[in-house]
Amino acid sequence: MFTIASVVILLKNIRFYCFALITRIRRRLLIYAIARSRRLYPLLSPRHEHVILITKNIIYKPGDAATLRSEAAAMRYIAKHTSIPVPRVYGMWTENESEGSLLMGRCPGKQLRLVWGKLTDAQRQRIREQLRDYLAQLRALPPPRPGWIGSASGGPCYDQRLSYDPFGPFPDEAEFNHWRVSLLDRMAEASSKIAIRVQEMRSSLRNDHAVVFTHGDLASDNIVVEVVGDGPNDARVSGLIDWGQSGWRPEYWEYVKSLHGRDTVGNWADLVRQIIPIYEAEWQLDQEMCLIHGGGR
Ligand SMILES: Nc1ncnc2c1ncn2[C@@H]1O[C@H](COP(=O)(O)OP(=O)(O)O)[C@@H](O)[C@H]1O
Ligand SMILES: [Mg+2]
Repeated sequence: MFTIASVVILLKNIRFYCFALITRIRRRLLIYAIARSRRLYPLLSPRHEHVILITKNIIYKPGDAATLRSEAAAMRYIAKHTSIPVPRVYGMWTENESEGSLLMGRCPGKQLRLVWGKLTDAQRQRIREQLRDYLAQLRALPPPRPGWIGSASGGPCYDQRLSYDPFGPFPDEAEFNHWRVSLLDRMAEASSKIAIRVQEMRSSLRNDHAVVFTHGDLASDNIVVEVVGDGPNDARVSGLIDWGQSGWRPEYWEYVKSLHGRDTVGNWADLVRQIIPIYEAEWQLDQEMCLIHGGGR
């Protein structure tokens, strides 16, 4: 006689074996698709060999499971609530606790880094206007609770610049600042001069910024632009990509993060200042904290 408990165990076993089978099939298919891709498609970006086309319009991106989960959640959320062009998410799964895979649609065109030098002045102006509009839409998205700092999935923040591990989420900016300054503790313990400066920084950090949705890795490699001719309307932003470090952050975060990387588009800093509100005091303080912390890519 089957008892309810034995039926439940049987169903659980069937579920487990089905998952295992699906995982095996998916791995095999992926190995085949990657080998096929290397034969058929050029690299999307020589600097990012891990991100590949597996069909003409579908991109495979492997990486840290938690960051990819945050990236997929953000792209779904942004697609639903704004008119910002973001890749369509076809699937995201984890291979194990640390490795994941993301399948997403391809945004037509090339990285802004590669096309910016070839655009006409009018086309550059159009790109600036589009980016300004998209960032304004992003910044208008309210956090789930006022002042809440975390990612679109409702989980912690990811930020390669500060920590390899996720951090937060935080109920407000004061908690976020507390965590941020705690990164400097080790250096403060080693030097009394640094300890005094860290204490000064702790008290000068503001807790009253608005909290807004932030891409968190805005760079000329993460903006895809499609150019079809020389006319002013022949160039457009076709995608903002790479949302793994996005989420609700203090309003200055986008500015500070965008300027942090060593972007290779000549006038990137000028472009940033034209599309995002400027927070010079926060930027100076952030730079100093990064210097003490030793963080940064
Ligand atoms: N959905 C997409 N559409 C078009 N190109 C993409 C897309 N996703 C990634 N790429 C290309 O691959 C590169 C690396 O992808 P990205 O997601 O930025 O990876 P990483 O997190 O390593 O920076 C991008 O700079 C871009 O050239
Ligand atoms: Mg990128």
